[in-house]
Amino acid sequence: MKNIIIIILLVIIGALAYIMTKGSVTPSEDGRISVVLSKDERNLVLGEMRQFLISVQGVSSAITNKDLKKVEELAHKAGMAAEADTPGALLRKIPAGMKKLGFGTRGLFDDIAAAAKEGKDPVELRKQLDALMNNCIACHATYRLPEPK
Ligand code: HEC
Repeated sequence: MKNIIIIILLVIIGALAYIMTKGSVTPSEDGRISVVLSKDERNLVLGEMRQFLISVQGVSSAITNKDLKKVEELAHKAGMAAEADTPGALLRKIPAGMKKLGFGTRGLFDDIAAAAKEGKDPVELRKQLDALMNNCIACHATYRLPEPK
């Protein structure tokens, strides 16, 4: 009897965990996963994306110019600090794998900021930025944000 109750509880916990981590997703015709957001949420995420590109360009250019102060400042801004205002309702719609890549990318920007603060060699900073951009590629290869109908 005890075992049955434990199994039922595990199934319930498993189902809840699945619901909480699956996000708002449907298959996409191009083989990726469509993350279905409202118009405003999609605009917010795409705005963050355009800012990501600006950040990568800025950090790259500051590395080329060996301006570590600027690297630190721009990378910090693109790090976890940028997530402070992300609405919880939006985060719940993002599948766990995508959240991991997104927060992971923020974390890598924070790592670059910390390394620049320590005065790390620009070649090393550039390697970190190169590795960070693999996250951009991985996420774009897996997920898309269809325009709401
Ligand atoms: C966690 C996932 C994820 C990560 C990490 C990510 N992106 Fe995106 N990005 C997306 C998705 C999803 C789209 C929408 C793509 C689609 O619908 O085809 C997108 C779209 C974009 C766009 C188009 C914006 C627009 O206005 O249409 C740009 C530019 C962009 N990303 C840049 C970047 C850069 C640069 C990085 C890395 C620093 C990055 N992204 C990292 C998920 C991600």
